[in-house]
Amino acid sequence: MNAVNLEKLSFSWAGQKPTLDIPAWQVKQGETVLLRGPSGSGKSTLLSLLAGINTPEQGRLDLFDTAFSSLSGRQRDRYRADNIGYIFQQFNLLPYLSALDNALLACQFSKKRRQRLAEKGTSAEATALEMLKRLGLSSEQIQQQAHTLSVGQQQRVAAARALLGAPKLLIADEPTSALDAEHRDTFIQLLLELSSQNNTTVIFVTHDAALSSYFDKHVELNELNRAGAKS
Ligand SMILES: Nc1ncnc2c1ncn2[C@@H]1O[C@H](COP(=O)(O)OP(=O)(O)O)[C@@H](O)[C@H]1O
Ligand SMILES: [Mg+2]
Repeated sequence: MNAVNLEKLSFSWAGQKPTLDIPAWQVKQGETVLLRGPSGSGKSTLLSLLAGINTPEQGRLDLFDTAFSSLSGRQRDRYRADNIGYIFQQFNLLPYLSALDNALLACQFSKKRRQRLAEKGTSAEATALEMLKRLGLSSEQIQQQAHTLSVGQQQRVAAARALLGAPKLLIADEPTSALDAEHRDTFIQLLLELSSQNNTTVIFVTHDAALSSYFDKHVELNELNRAGAKS
């Protein structure tokens, strides 16, 4: 099955020439994809369409067996909450919640995520604690407010939040740009290991060529995108 299927997809920001014009693109279920491209080429815009934060002006976007671009705004929000984990470049943690409560947020908004954990005989809290420990946070750090953690620790919390409850698709937008090489490699390895345990498909944006070897596929946005090739 395809995790992502795009056909004749286009998107323009208000008052600008088209940012995206993609004739076709597929990602297979369970694949890990590194998406690269120069700054301003539309990587974050494409991710926002995949997550249903923005909607394509034209064309078709399917996620797994769902015609995502045909859903209403409400249905898209529900689908995202249940099935998509998103790690933002700036992590978007709630600063005054603990690391644990931040990690639990995704499950609070999705009964499906909680059910998937229940089917494995575990709870959101137990899994979040285990994940945060595996990601290298101490018991004390897990209870600390997010704003008191280092950038690397915040990034791990964002990863745990995105992956808790086994989403079908993980989207990560340059989440390693603030990390040194050693932390970056450990982080990617763990992220991919946790993803593969649930057969989660991964689309990871970075301009860091050193990370290529960790991913099944490499995609250059300008090779997919006719709007990018022209400008
Ligand atoms: N929220 C926004 N409103 C208006 N224009 C935007 C917005 N986000 C991105 N753009 C524009 O879309 C283009 C692609 O940006 P972006 O998707 O952020 O690229 P990348 O992530 O590859 O650096 C740029 O010209 C940028 O100015
Ligand atoms: Mg970007």
